[in-house]
Amino acid sequence: MKNVLITGGAGFIGSNFVRHLLNMEENIHAFNLDALTYAGSLENLKDLPFPQHHTFINGSILDQEFLNGLFQKHQIDTIVHFAAESHVDRSILGPGQFVQTNIVGTFTLLEAARKFWLQDNHWDHHQVRFHHISTDEVFGSLAPGQPAWTEETSYAPNSPYAASKASSDHLVRSYGHTYDLPYTITNCSNNYGPYQFPEKLIPLIILNAIEEKPLPVYGDGQQVRDWLHVEDHCSAIHLVLTKGLAGSTFNIGGDNQPANLTIVETICDILDERKPRANGIPHRDLIRFVKDRPGHDRRYDMDAGKIRRELGWQPRHNLTDGLLDTVNWYLTHPEWVLAIRKQLEYQSWLAKNYDTREKTS
Ligand code: NAD
Ligand code: DAU
Repeated sequence: MKNVLITGGAGFIGSNFVRHLLNMEENIHAFNLDALTYAGSLENLKDLPFPQHHTFINGSILDQEFLNGLFQKHQIDTIVHFAAESHVDRSILGPGQFVQTNIVGTFTLLEAARKFWLQDNHWDHHQVRFHHISTDEVFGSLAPGQPAWTEETSYAPNSPYAASKASSDHLVRSYGHTYDLPYTITNCSNNYGPYQFPEKLIPLIILNAIEEKPLPVYGDGQQVRDWLHVEDHCSAIHLVLTKGLAGSTFNIGGDNQPANLTIVETICDILDERKPRANGIPHRDLIRFVKDRPGHDRRYDMDAGKIRRELGWQPRHNLTDGLLDTVNWYLTHPEWVLAIRKQLEYQSWLAKNYDTREKTS
């Protein structure tokens, strides 16, 4: 691993991973390719450690010629592919961009790697790696009591987002099987932590609560996700990249499964301590049950036994401390919040997703 292409490295997990990699590896250069869509921001890349080992490149994974030139120019030997449209609600209101970025974009990147590594040159297999970042949502939804998903579980994606990610996973696997392209895939559960765009549940609730706005809970709020701190996701990816066998996939999860409503109430309680409302009323009073997400998956649960056993991965954060740290991070980074939230696109997204969702209680 010398010249690492990180796609989507100006987004939430990608920017955390860039930090992690620069701290962990002395002898690499990180080429950070990001199209800076609404979800990507250079604000996420301020104060990087070892910035001399990092180059930001503004461009799209959909541009084949540009990618071919980039591989050649920087002699890319490793890809960590985060770039995607990542928000389920947006995929419901506008699935087309998800098909483009997540499916066609991954295909375009695979073609660039195949051409540069396998056709134009003949790199040794152990010198190159295509690591694809995927999600637990490809497995669908669990009923109460059903066992956690393993790497052997069949795919059953339910949302356009999940289907586009499943499709990209299949493409990656097929390039391994057909062309012998050295790849690994990780399927991870819900991340939370610093730099998460405030369209996702945890940062949305933190920022709405700070501003004393309604806290929208979809349906009955009893849906269950498997929450993992983003730094633990990054350490898992780094392990797979450096120690995982080519051709393998790993499930990553946090073993933290409170219902959404409990997450929202916990954030309210933390803020009651850290930043009580002027009127003295608890933040829980701002919770509003609103119309459910169409096709809303009920429960996710990942069995991360394989990565723990084979690579010795251990998450460092527990959810209680992780949520506290995350609330503190948003409270202590008002300049980041301001820069991200003032985007017109963000304001129009809030109106589009929430203004039409009638309250149910
Ligand atoms: P994000 O939406 O915060 O960031 C996505 C990044 O991709 C943005 O910086 C955006 O500008 C960039 N991008 C979009 N289209 C691009 C294009 N055509 N070319 C180059 N860059 C482009 O997403 P995230 O939450 O950081 O997720 C990153 C990856 O991890 C995604 O593949 C997602 O499916 C996966 N994942 C996310 C979670 C989670 O909880 N957030 C969990 C499991 C897996
Ligand atoms: O499971 C991994 C996935 O987690 C990733 O692949 C996705 O990229 C990521 O966005 C995330 O998807 P979710 O749909 O689970 O995340 P989100 O934060 O949008 O929602 C979490 C839960 O909270 C979900 O059950 C829907 C609910 N929710 C969400 C929002 C935005 C609400 O109740 N109210 C809200 O306003």
